[in-house]
Amino acid sequence: MRTTGSCRAFLTDPVPDEVLTRCFDAARFAPSGGNRQGWKVVAVRDATIRGRIRNLHVARWAEYTDGIARGIVPFNTYPQPKDAPPPAHRPMDPAWLAKVNAFAQQIDTIPVHLLVFVDLRTLAVADHRLDRQSIVGGGSIYPFVHNLLLAMRNEGLGSSLTTLLCASEAEVKELVGAPEPFALAALVLVGWPAAPLPTKLRRRTVESFATVDRFDGPALSMG
Ligand SMILES: Cc1cc2nc3c(=O)[nH]c(=O)nc-3n(C[C@H](O)[C@H](O)[C@H](O)COP(=O)(O)O)c2cc1C
Repeated sequence: MRTTGSCRAFLTDPVPDEVLTRCFDAARFAPSGGNRQGWKVVAVRDATIRGRIRNLHVARWAEYTDGIARGIVPFNTYPQPKDAPPPAHRPMDPAWLAKVNAFAQQIDTIPVHLLVFVDLRTLAVADHRLDRQSIVGGGSIYPFVHNLLLAMRNEGLGSSLTTLLCASEAEVKELVGAPEPFALAALVLVGWPAAPLPTKLRRRTVESFATVDRFDGPALSMG
């Protein structure tokens, strides 16, 4: 968990079926609502399909960076404060943005594109009646996705979890012949890393997000 960061520089060497299968074999023990396990993964190796995925992703990426340039939080409909800037987050850092931009342009060269779908009939979306963006359905697929990232890290593989492609779900489904009740949950890019995988990720401290008894209660810490 501490060293599974996004990898954005890959070798073009193939990833054997055997290694991928081992990762799926570990990831399938993820929790899901009612243990319904609605996941379905298409491991795309075909260069033409990877090229099409790249083009769809780049179009969404352009939308994302355009939003950032206009000072908004892209793909977020929650009202943001008018006079205060949105909370600082990495995409605002121009060096980071340039790096991720270069990465987006060449994802077709990454040997494996994992398209993670979920069967919508299996989801228990407990918050679907609330008057806000729904979040709970994702809880039955993203634990599986993260298990997969951890399993691949354990094999020495690099990976990058992306979701912008989900905005182009109809095109992706047509591209790989995915039928109705399936929704696209993620595009995970996988390959052998071109440089050593990170050993130190930057994340918020426990004290900054965990409290006792109340939202504004005392921070949880090791004491
Ligand atoms: C839901 C989600 C969507 C993401 N989409 C993208 C993406 O489109 N492109 C990308 O390069 N990284 C994407 N990432 C990776 C994040 O940028 C990364 O997890 C975060 O910056 C932390 O980086 P680190 O793990 O390298 O420390 C995404 C991550 C998540 C969880």
